[in-house]
Amino acid sequence: MFNNLYHNKKVLVTGHTGFKGSWLTEWLLLLGAKVSGYSKDIPTQPSLFEALRLEDRIQHHIGDVRDKAHFLTALQETRPDFVFHLAAQPIVRQSYIDPSETVSTNVLGTNNVLDALRINNQPCTAVIITSDKCYHNVEWTWGYRENDRLGGNDPYSASKGAAELIIHTYFTSFFQTGSSPVRIASARAGNVIGGGDWADSRLVPDAFRAWATGEKVEIRSPKATRPWQHVLEPLSGYLRLGECLAKSKDLNGESFNFGPPSEQSHTVLELLEALEASWKLNDQIIVGENPGFHEAGLLKLNCDKALHKLKWQPALPFPETATFTATWYEQYYRQEQSANLREFTSKQITKYAEAARNRNIAWAIQ
Ligand SMILES: NC(=O)c1ccc[n+]([C@@H]2O[C@H](COP(=O)([O-])OP(=O)(O)OC[C@H]3O[C@@H](n4cnc5c(N)ncnc54)[C@H](O)[C@@H]3O)[C@@H](O)[C@H]2O)c1
Repeated sequence: MFNNLYHNKKVLVTGHTGFKGSWLTEWLLLLGAKVSGYSKDIPTQPSLFEALRLEDRIQHHIGDVRDKAHFLTALQETRPDFVFHLAAQPIVRQSYIDPSETVSTNVLGTNNVLDALRINNQPCTAVIITSDKCYHNVEWTWGYRENDRLGGNDPYSASKGAAELIIHTYFTSFFQTGSSPVRIASARAGNVIGGGDWADSRLVPDAFRAWATGEKVEIRSPKATRPWQHVLEPLSGYLRLGECLAKSKDLNGESFNFGPPSEQSHTVLELLEALEASWKLNDQIIVGENPGFHEAGLLKLNCDKALHKLKWQPALPFPETATFTATWYEQYYRQEQSANLREFTSKQITKYAEAARNRNIAWAIQ
C-alpha cells in the first residue's frame, strides 16, 4: 500500500485522539510508521483512541495548537517526515455556541502549525485537513471544484475557508521557493461515518448511543442530503496525497477534494434506515422539529482532480459504507467488550484495502 512509503517514517498527527485521527493513527501503525500525536485532550468518552489503546503504541503529546511555542517544541522533538494536521473544533453546532473558540482553533491553530513548520525549516511533507464546508455554498446541483470560491455562513465553515486562505498564503510566501524543505497541500472532505465516533451532535453517534440503550433516535433534517462516506475513504486520500506530495514538488501548494461518487448522496433518513436495518431494528427513528440554525442543505464535491492527479477514487458503495459502520458499533456494544476492537478495526482497514484493490485503485495495488 502507498508504495510502502510510510514504513519506518516519522509521522506527526495532530488531532490523533479524535475520530479521524485515531483511525489514521491505527492505519499508519499498520503501515509500519513511527507515529507521534499532538492533541489538546481526548475529546469524547468513550473514545476510539482509548478503545484501540493507541497511547501505548505511539508518542503521545497533549498540547494546544493555539500555543505555538509548545507545538514547535513537539515538532522539533519529533522531527517528522510527514505531518497530518487534523486538530480542530469540527462541530457546526458547537461553532454557534462558541464561535471564538472555533475560529481560534481552526484558523490560528492551522496558522501555528504552518508557522512552526516554517521556523523548524526541516524537510517535511504536510497534509492539512480542512473540510468540504470551506466552499461558499450556494446549494447548487454541481460538485464544488478546488478553484471554486471559498466562504462559509456559519462560524465552522468560515473557519475552514479562512484556514484555506492561510494555507495558500504560507505556500506563496514561504514554501513555494525552491529552497524551502517543506511541502504542503490541503485536503477537503465531507461528512464521514464509521465506527468509533462518539462526538456530540453528530447523527451516527447519536443514533448508536440511543439504539444501544433501547431508545429511539430523533432527527431534525430528514431530507438533508450529505455526501456520506466511510472515514477510511478520505483517509486513503490523505495518505495518497502525502505519498504523491513527497514524491512530486508539482503538488506543492495544491488542494484536493475527497468525496463519494456524485450519485452517492443520500438523505439523513436514508442513511439512518440503512444503519437501522444493519442492526436489525425497526421503527427506531423519530423525525423532530427543525434545529433552527442554518446548516447547508446540499453540498457535493467534484473529485476529478484527485482522480486525475492522484489516481484516487472511493472504494466503498453506500450499502458497504453503512455495513462497515454498523458492524463496528455492533462489535463495541453487543459483543464481548473491547478486547477484540483493535483486531476488528485493523481487519476493517485490511478489508477496505481489499475493496480498493478489487477496484484497481492505485494506492492499494502499489
Ligand atoms: N468528522 C467529519 O465528518 C469531518 C468532515 C469534514 C472535515 N473534518 C475535519 O477532520 C478533522 C478531524 O475531525 P474529527 O471528526 O476526527 O474531530 P474530533 O472532534 O473527533 O477530533 C478533534 C481532534 O482535535 C483535537 N483538538 C481540538 N482542539 C484542539 C486544539 N486547540 N489543540 C490541539 N488539539 C485540538 C482534539 O483533541 C481531537 O484530537 C477536523 O479538522 C475536522 O474539521 C471532519
